[in-house]
Amino acid sequence: MSKNEDLVTAAHNIFPGAVNSPVRSFRSIGGTPVPLVRGEGAYVWDADGNRYIDFVGAFGPLITGHAHPKIVEAIQKAAADGTAFGAITPTEVELGRRICEATGMERVRFVNSGTEATMSAIRVARAATGREVVVKFDGNYHGHSDGLLAKAGSGVATLGMSASAGVPEAMAGRTAVLPYNNPAALEEWFKERGSETAAVIVEAVPGNMGVILPDSTFVETLQRLCKEHGALLISDEVITGFRLRYGLSDALPGADLYCLGKVIGGGMPIGAFGGRAELMNHLAPEGGVYQAGTLAGNPLVMAAGLAMLDILQETGVYARLEQVSSFLENGLRAAIKRAGVDACISREGSMLTVFFRKEPPRSMAEGQESDTAAFARFHRAMLDRGIMLAPSQFEACFVSTAHNEPEIDAAVNAAHEAMRAAAGNGS
Ligand SMILES: Cc1ncc(COP(=O)(O)O)c(C=O)c1O
Repeated sequence: MSKNEDLVTAAHNIFPGAVNSPVRSFRSIGGTPVPLVRGEGAYVWDADGNRYIDFVGAFGPLITGHAHPKIVEAIQKAAADGTAFGAITPTEVELGRRICEATGMERVRFVNSGTEATMSAIRVARAATGREVVVKFDGNYHGHSDGLLAKAGSGVATLGMSASAGVPEAMAGRTAVLPYNNPAALEEWFKERGSETAAVIVEAVPGNMGVILPDSTFVETLQRLCKEHGALLISDEVITGFRLRYGLSDALPGADLYCLGKVIGGGMPIGAFGGRAELMNHLAPEGGVYQAGTLAGNPLVMAAGLAMLDILQETGVYARLEQVSSFLENGLRAAIKRAGVDACISREGSMLTVFFRKEPPRSMAEGQESDTAAFARFHRAMLDRGIMLAPSQFEACFVSTAHNEPEIDAAVNAAHEAMRAAAGNGS
């Protein structure tokens, strides 16, 4: 057996489904997951020594590629000074200050994951409004806290049902799930239940049903209805924050609370949420909302985050990311055209999804019309050619500052063949 096979077999005997997070299992596309041992820049290596150009980027954090020397050095330096304190530290103050400065948030709190950020932001919103019901959108993902693992009920103005075994209906039943990009559904919801609604949480630009772009009327309706009905708007920027631009994306201005994660930790475990002081001061010890974390604001994570922000503040980083991402988009479009396959590209900045349907979807329901078997063939054919893409039709691929013309050219060349394989002509 190869080293890859050995590792996957060993993992199967230890971890449920061989993984510590489900999408890594390749379950939705079939085939065997690729165990990775090393990354550098745009490249990763598996246990058998095969090299891949990586467009997964650890599912979002690695906007500067793998093992960026400045980030590695910052983590090493911080580690030598102690790995955790459970006290205020200069690096957490500095990262917090820089995040507030870049986002306009008056107060922020660091947590260890995006899941904790959204869960805690909702707790603050419920306390601040004295209301219980939360609205989310079909296909948007905000982590795995009980209340956010809800699926749509039977009508628009009904509360949600549990979307996971182990989540009681009572927990999911305080969350309503509405169709994305559908202003009429929002109007109907707020007409019926606006006065009960504590918050609406939405991905600023969704990446978790694949990249789906928000319509401007949807965004305007969302902003207006939240204001009119006194519900807080929570923008989930766990993917988009500091990825689409330095600070918050401009997809959802004027939200009340913002959630961050991924990029701001430089590849280390992080989440953050923040907003106006008047709202954030509901948190203990200022206020009555309990929220805490032994390793929150951990010095290694903070040092990695600071190094990441330093790199991202260098001139031209986002312009270059946009340029390289658009080369990739154009190359993929040409491959789709030449193969004559029903596929399209949905892209915002350095996040991109190849959907196997004619037009970019505007909602989860439309996304689900994609030919997932064709996506699986495409993914496999790209992997065989040394290109690693996110292993699901409903994920984003990420471009980093470590991707340059040679990597994009290689990916596009591979895609010309892989699109033929997706169409069923070739392998
Ligand atoms: C938009 C969004 N919110 C929240 C989360 C949860 O973050 P974490 O996996 O760090 O808990 C994710 C994770 O992919 C995400 O994409």
